[in-house]
Amino acid sequence: MEIDHTYRGREHSLIKHELLKGYLQKLLLIVGTSGTREITYVDCFAGPWGSEDESLDGTSIAISLGILKGVQDTLAAPPYSIPSLKLRAIYVEKAERRYQRLASYLMTNAPPSIECHALYGDYSDLQDDILRMCGKGFAFFFIDPKGWKDVTIPKLRKLAARPRSELLINFMYDFFNRFIDLPSLNNQVTDMLGKLDESDRQTLAARLPKDRAAWVVNRYRECLKAAAGTEGREKPRAYHAIVKDKDKDRTKYHMVYVTRHPKGIVVFAEQSEKVDFIQRVVRIQTARERSGQRGLFAPEQEAEQIDDGRVGLDMVEDYWLKLLDTEARAFDEAVLADMLESQGWQISDFQQAFGRLQAAGKVENIDARGSRKRHFVYFDKAERLRKTR
Ligand SMILES: C[S@@+](CC[C@H](N)C(=O)[O-])C[C@H]1O[C@@H](n2cnc3c(N)ncnc32)[C@H](O)[C@@H]1O
Repeated sequence: MEIDHTYRGREHSLIKHELLKGYLQKLLLIVGTSGTREITYVDCFAGPWGSEDESLDGTSIAISLGILKGVQDTLAAPPYSIPSLKLRAIYVEKAERRYQRLASYLMTNAPPSIECHALYGDYSDLQDDILRMCGKGFAFFFIDPKGWKDVTIPKLRKLAARPRSELLINFMYDFFNRFIDLPSLNNQVTDMLGKLDESDRQTLAARLPKDRAAWVVNRYRECLKAAAGTEGREKPRAYHAIVKDKDKDRTKYHMVYVTRHPKGIVVFAEQSEKVDFIQRVVRIQTARERSGQRGLFAPEQEAEQIDDGRVGLDMVEDYWLKLLDTEARAFDEAVLADMLESQGWQISDFQQAFGRLQAAGKVENIDARGSRKRHFVYFDKAERLRKTR
């Protein structure tokens, strides 16, 4: 895999951008064909960051504009033929020099068919302006700070509470974790996770580092969902993807995603699984370059063999068996979204475990025709599943 030179030394940003790119494109196509007239993309921590090029290649600014334009062109052409969809992009930057670079980049590079705005200041202080500019249509907020104090719940509450919106937040757990137990930062920790009582503290203290991270990120997800509130009948939902450090075997960021639509969770989970593979390839490549050694296999082949901390399929099989009854019931995308949210596993974990149970004669997909190799359940077709005994 060719890694663009702009990502050298910051390969984790490549992974973050792959996730943003892949998800945003799918999301915009889905929302754009759903009858919505107006979509706004908001980059709350725009930069430019990490790129000295005038082209701003390798920044979320250039990436998002490219995606918006590509989706607009696709939707304007047959078979969609939706020329009237309004696309808007709002970029917010607090540092003056970066804001000036951003504003001048937009002046010369923004496609005329997309309404673009550069806002100067703290995104949290600008929430009312941002919301006014978003109008009534769909909005996607990309929130990508350098630390954690800018993504406490009170700081982003207004954006989270907006109906017809989704958020993608870069949660820097590692930084945050250092402060959780610091009495002087109690209030800020409460702003992230709600009040931690004695039993929460004991739970945290007893956990191994990886489980502690999972507990904290899940709690943050719950707080975000509470801030999102309910809109009509759709409950808020959240999921997260992990971006690893390029060198060390530890998590660099948790990309936390909040939506009100089950399809959003499914599409985001599909994209995080694709990106997880790219991440493994990139980590193998950078390790080889560092050591000067060539592997026996291509990085892509080696990446296929690495499970990188994924859940064991025995555990997923047990979960399936608890979920299923001998009486068949439909498993649609809303059920899959519930499964993904509650377990945090990948879609292929559920598929593979179901396939193994089916091969062992323990479960059955009563709507499946013919033999299947990978997709044992089509959740988008609400196939009916049962256990055999
Ligand atoms: C990690 S960088 C953003 C990277 C960018 N999203 C990307 O992927 O290319 C964070 C940026 O947000 C800006 N910033 C920091 N605090 C901010 C705030 N409260 N409101 C708006 N911008 C902020 C910083 O100056 C910096 O340019």
